[in-house]
Amino acid sequence: MTLTRADCEALDRRDPLATLRSQFVIPPGLIYLDGNSLGVMPAAAPARVAQVVQQEWGQGLIRSWNAAGWMNLSQRVGDKIARLVGAAPGELVVADSTSVNLFKVLSAALHLARAESSGTHRGAQRHVIVSERSNFPTDLYIAQSLAQQHGGTLELLEGEDIPARLAGARGQDVALLTLTHVNYRTGRMHDMAALTAQAHAAGALTVWDLAHSAGAVPVDLNGTGADFAVGCGYKYLNGGPGAPAFVWAHPQHVSSAWQPLAGWIGHAAPFEFTPDYQPAPGITRYLCGTPPVLSLAALECGVDTVLAAEPLGGMVALRHKSLALTRLFAELVQTRCAGHGLRLVSPTEDALRGSQVCLARDDGAYAIVQALIERGVIGDFRAPNVLRFGFTPLYIGYAEVWEAVEQLRQVLDGGVWRDARFQQRQQVT
Ligand SMILES: Cc1ncc(COP(=O)(O)O)c(C=O)c1O
Repeated sequence: MTLTRADCEALDRRDPLATLRSQFVIPPGLIYLDGNSLGVMPAAAPARVAQVVQQEWGQGLIRSWNAAGWMNLSQRVGDKIARLVGAAPGELVVADSTSVNLFKVLSAALHLARAESSGTHRGAQRHVIVSERSNFPTDLYIAQSLAQQHGGTLELLEGEDIPARLAGARGQDVALLTLTHVNYRTGRMHDMAALTAQAHAAGALTVWDLAHSAGAVPVDLNGTGADFAVGCGYKYLNGGPGAPAFVWAHPQHVSSAWQPLAGWIGHAAPFEFTPDYQPAPGITRYLCGTPPVLSLAALECGVDTVLAAEPLGGMVALRHKSLALTRLFAELVQTRCAGHGLRLVSPTEDALRGSQVCLARDDGAYAIVQALIERGVIGDFRAPNVLRFGFTPLYIGYAEVWEAVEQLRQVLDGGVWRDARFQQRQQVT
C-alpha cells in the first residue's frame, strides 16, 4: 500500500529520532537529499569555529597547540569516529583526505601482504590488487598508481565475481582486496565480514573505504577482522566542505609497516627534531603534516551530531530509520513516477542497500536533478545517467521524502526539465 503525505506526517510525529534535526541549520523549505556528498552544517559549528579563530588562534596563538589541545585533535576526533565504526579508542586518527589516506593504507597493506608471503612458494606471485570496476575513481586511481610503482596489477571485477576470484588456486596471486563498502553510484553495500573472510582465506588483506558508511550504516571494523580502513569527514559525518578524512589500521598491523608519507607529525618525537624517521607508536604514525585545526574543529561538531544519537539507539537506530526512508523513497518513485523511464539502481533488499537511492534514466538525468534543485529538492547527478539521493536519518523526515517524490513527479509529468536552463552542465554535478 502506497503511503500518503498524511501517513508520512504521522510517521514523523512518531519518529524517536526527530529531535536530532534541531542540531542542524537547514535553510527553510529545502529538502536536502545530498548528505552523502556534503552533510548539512551543524548549528554548533559557526560558534565553535569562531571560538577557535578568535580565542584559541587570535588570543592564544602558538600557545594553543598545548593549551587548547590542538596537538591531540586528530586523535580526539578520531576516538569519536572510532565509536561509529567499531574501532577502539587510539586505533583511528583524522588526517589528510580520503585519497591521501588510501595511498598510505594501500601502500602499507601491499607491503605487508607481500612480506607475509615472501619466502613461500607463493611470495613472488602475490602481486594483484583486486577491486570493483564501479568503485569510486579516486580509489582506483590510487591503486593503479601504486600497482605501477610496485610492479603489481590492478584487476577490476564486477562485485559478484570477487568471491570466485579469491577462492582456491585463483586467489593465490591476490595481495589486496580494496573496496568501498557502500558503492557511491549504486548505493549497494558489500558484506564486509564475508569478503574479509574470503580475502583472508586467500592470504590477502583488505582495505575498506567507508566514505558512504561512517555515520550512515553500522560498521564493525574489529568485529569483521578488516585490515585497513579510510573514510570521509564531509559526508554523513557533517564535517564541512573538504573536512579531513580518517584512517584506521587493525592493531595487529598498525606497527608492522611504515606508511609511505613519513612526515614529522607521525614521528615518535616530532619536537626532538632528529634527522632520522622513527614512526610513532600505533595509528599516530599515519599522520603526516600539521593538523588542520579549523577544519578539525568543524568536523568535531559534525561527528558530535552523530554521537548525539547514542542515547537514542545510536547507529542501529539511525540505520533503522535510514532503511525506512530509502525504502519509502524507492517505493514512492516506483508508484508515483511510473512510466517516466526511471530505473531503480539501488538494491531493494535492505541488507544490500546503504543510505542512498540511485535512479537511472537513459536521457535527461542531469537536467531532472537541476529542475529538482530549482524546486528546493537537492540531490545530485553522477555521470553518465544516475540521479542520486542520499538520506541522512539525523535530519531527513518521512514527509520530506514524500514531498521530494511529489516534486520529481511534477518535474517529469510537466517535462519542465527539458527547459534549456537545466541542460547547462556545471563544474560540480
Ligand atoms: C567512495 C569515495 N571515496 C573517496 C572520495 C573522495 O575522497 P577525497 O576526499 O580524497 O576527495 C569520495 C568522494 O565522493 C568517495 O565517494
